[in-house]
Amino acid sequence: MAGKTQLKNILPPRQLAGEITVAGDKSISHRAVILNSLASGTSQIINLAPGKDCLSTINCLRALGVKLTKQDGKPPAIHIIGVGNKGLTEAKDILDAGNSGTTMRLLSGVLCAQPFLSILTGDNSLRSRPMKRLIEPLRLMGAEIHGRNDDSLAPLVIRGKQLHGVSYTLPVPSAQIKSAVLLAGLFARGDTTINQLQPSRDHTERLLKRMGANLESDNMRISLRPLNSPLTSVDLNIPGDISSAAYWLVAGAIHPNAKIKIVNCGVNPTRTGIIDVLLAMGARLRIENQRSEGNEPVADLHIESGRLKALEIGGDLIPRLIDEIPLLAVAACAAEGKTVIRDANELRVKESDRIASTGKELSRLGANIEELPDGMVIYGGKTLIGNEVRSHGDHRLAMSLAIAGLVAKGNTTIQNAGAADISNPGFWEELDRLARY
Ligand code: S3P
Repeated sequence: MAGKTQLKNILPPRQLAGEITVAGDKSISHRAVILNSLASGTSQIINLAPGKDCLSTINCLRALGVKLTKQDGKPPAIHIIGVGNKGLTEAKDILDAGNSGTTMRLLSGVLCAQPFLSILTGDNSLRSRPMKRLIEPLRLMGAEIHGRNDDSLAPLVIRGKQLHGVSYTLPVPSAQIKSAVLLAGLFARGDTTINQLQPSRDHTERLLKRMGANLESDNMRISLRPLNSPLTSVDLNIPGDISSAAYWLVAGAIHPNAKIKIVNCGVNPTRTGIIDVLLAMGARLRIENQRSEGNEPVADLHIESGRLKALEIGGDLIPRLIDEIPLLAVAACAAEGKTVIRDANELRVKESDRIASTGKELSRLGANIEELPDGMVIYGGKTLIGNEVRSHGDHRLAMSLAIAGLVAKGNTTIQNAGAADISNPGFWEELDRLARY
C-alpha cells in the first residue's frame, strides 16, 4: 500500500510557528453522535471529528435507521434526527466499526438493549483487541452477547433484550467499557452503579447529564437511573481534540525554534495528563482564555521551545494521557535524563501494541529505549537520526514518528503514514502550515 498518502518524508524545519485550530475531539464526537441519535428532537453538531473513526460510528448509526446528514464546510458539521429511545431498527447487514474501539464498544452497550439482532465487526486490528472486558459486564446486566475465540474477540453477535441494572467495578480504567455499561444502563430496569479504581475520560457522563439523564458522579463512583423519557437533543460545538493538539505541544517543546498557539482546545481534566507532564518536564507551555463550551472546559494553549528534563510517570496519570504515550516517548528522547513510564499495560492492546511498536520504530531513529512489560524506559538527550520507519497501521504512531522526524537529523520516511486519517486527516496540512524550511 505505497500510495501517495501512505509514504511521508519529513525533514527538520528551520522553524515551527503559527496559530492553529485542531480538529474536533474524537471521543466527544462519538458520544455526541450516539447520544443525539438516541434523543428526541434534532441536533446540529459543529466541528465533529473528521477522522475515519467517527465516520464508522456515523455509518453504523445510519445502518440502524438514524438520519445523519453531514454538512461539509469549515468546520464540518452534522445534522441528526434523533429516533428516541425506542427508535433504532435492525441493520440489514453486519455493522462495521473499522479501526474504532470506541464505535464497537459504545454501540455494543446500546445494542444489547434493543429488540433485534446485531453483528459487529472491525478491521484486523480491532478484531484482535480484547472484548471480554466488554462482554463480561454486559452479561451481568442480562445481555446476550457473544464473540469469537471463547467470547474474547470480535466479530460480536448481540441478541438484544431487556437488561437490568448492575453494580460494577471496572477492572481496567477504560472509558469505553464504562460508557458501554452506562449506555446499556439507560435502557435497563433498575439503577446502574459503576465504581472506578482510576478515573478515565468522563465525556459520556458530562453529556448524559447535559441531555437530561439522571446521573450522579464523583469521578470514582457513577450512578445512573434508567431513562423514563428520551434524552433531549443538544446542539454542540465540539472542542479541539487535546490528543491532536498534543503533537504540536510536543513539537513546539522539543524543536529548537518554535512558537505555536493552539486555539479552542478541550482541556477536560481527565484528558490533560500530557499538559501536566510537559509542564513537569519544564516545557514553556501556557494555558490561556479558559472557558466552557457546553459541558466541556476549553482553552488556548501556547508552547515555545525549551529544554525538557526527564521524569517518571505512572499510576492515576496514565489514563489521563493513555493515547499520548507514544508521543511522550518522543518528548522523552529529547529530554535530559532517564524517563520511566510504568503502569501502562493498556498500551499493549491499543491499535497496535504501542509499547513494542513505539520502542521498535524510535530505536530505528537511534533512540535509546527499553521495553518494560507495562511501559518503557527512555534515555534522552541523544540526537535522533532520520531513517525509514513504519506506522504499524497505528494513527498515533504515524503522527508521533512525524514529530520525531521534525527534530531528527536528515530525512525520516514514514511508511503507511495515511493511518493518521483515523483521527486527524488534517495532520499533514497542519504540519505544512507550521513548518518553515
Ligand atoms: C477512548 C478511550 C480510551 C482511548 C481511546 C478513546 C474513548 O480507550 O484510548 O482512544 O473515547 O472512550 P480505553 O477505554 O480502551 O482506555
